[in-house]
Amino acid sequence: MSTTYKTDFAAIKQQFVLPEGMIYLDGNSLGPLPKATSERVKTCIEQEWGQELIRAWNSAGWMATPTRLGDRIARMVGAEPGCITTGDTLSIKVYQALAAGLELRPERRVVLSDSGNFPSDLYMAQGLLQSLGEDNELRVVEPEAVADALTSEVAVLMLTQVDYRSGRLHDMAALSEQARSVGAITLWDLAHTAGAYPVRLADCQADFAVGCSYKFLNGGPGAPAFIYVRPGLKEQVRPALSGWLGHEAPFAFDLDYRAGHGIERMRVGTPPILQMAALDVSLDIWDQVDMDELRARSIELSQLFIAEVEQRCPALRLASPRAPEERGSQVSFAFDEGYAAMQALIARQVIGDFRAPDIMRFGITPLYLDEGDITQAAERIELVMRDEEWRRPEFQVRAAVT
Ligand SMILES: Cc1ncc(COP(=O)(O)O)c(C=O)c1O
Repeated sequence: MSTTYKTDFAAIKQQFVLPEGMIYLDGNSLGPLPKATSERVKTCIEQEWGQELIRAWNSAGWMATPTRLGDRIARMVGAEPGCITTGDTLSIKVYQALAAGLELRPERRVVLSDSGNFPSDLYMAQGLLQSLGEDNELRVVEPEAVADALTSEVAVLMLTQVDYRSGRLHDMAALSEQARSVGAITLWDLAHTAGAYPVRLADCQADFAVGCSYKFLNGGPGAPAFIYVRPGLKEQVRPALSGWLGHEAPFAFDLDYRAGHGIERMRVGTPPILQMAALDVSLDIWDQVDMDELRARSIELSQLFIAEVEQRCPALRLASPRAPEERGSQVSFAFDEGYAAMQALIARQVIGDFRAPDIMRFGITPLYLDEGDITQAAERIELVMRDEEWRRPEFQVRAAVT
């Protein structure tokens, strides 16, 4: 029997568009469409853009939207008010935060990260360090070796809290404390934890954090990223991407840049208002969710999924940590023919995804999944594996997006 929660997960599930017969286990990649989104975006297009036109920057509050949305996200990631703004893409926000962090430690040359980090974060670091000069180093170690590699040489510790392939969860509190003890700045990528896990940025005294809103937050494809700077630093950091909307007085049109107040300085240029309207309405759903209950429910469903799949499909090997407290909100299985098996599964209306070389990923999202979905998904995975449906030639053809 399942636990009783204050959060009404069954009622929340009804607030999403979920195609008939489909079981959606890919909310860790792209969240589904909330039912209220179309109407809100339509109003934004037809009333605000259509009727108000340029006046909407003031009359519809467009200009204040990025930081207003940041404050809505703050509760979910345990941040103080006024410390998050939204906009751009996550890769851009990684660059901004890393550049600002490095300037806080001018005497140090090492950015420490791990091989479980998302490649774009590593690429952004490589590009930035190259611009800064050859004596800078991006040091990438195995996830288990991060604590030992965290020495007083490190300027910035840059990690993604949950590994996008395995779902392994880093201990943010312990690593942030250790980083502080050696004088390193911390930068956390929350792409796979915002909306999936009760992140506690303020309690952990994290310096910077970044994340996206198209995965667990359900803001839609191309939804804006967010950036957090802790209160003690937000008036101090220098924005490397010094765009006009991060200026202290954008409409003074000064020829020289002066950083805006606090987190506003991490804005760059014109915000994507239509995407922000979609994110705004998806955050209404999150206002109904207790984050600790979400975590409990995610573990409950993940444990059921692992038990069902392992019992039915001996050929699949669990590629996520077995202990729930070491995992985010996804479960991965390794299988040599994982790509083709995932295509066969998608044909059976169970949507997950594949990450090279052999990982089948399944996002466990309590907002719109329940025990019935989990059991049905496991039944269909069993059919794909038992009948070796993945051998069919049409499932072997690789698409551009896996
Ligand atoms: C952990 C992580 N960091 C960074 C990115 C890149 O994000 P974006 O494409 O929005 O720049 C992703 C994309 O999935 C991600 O999962």
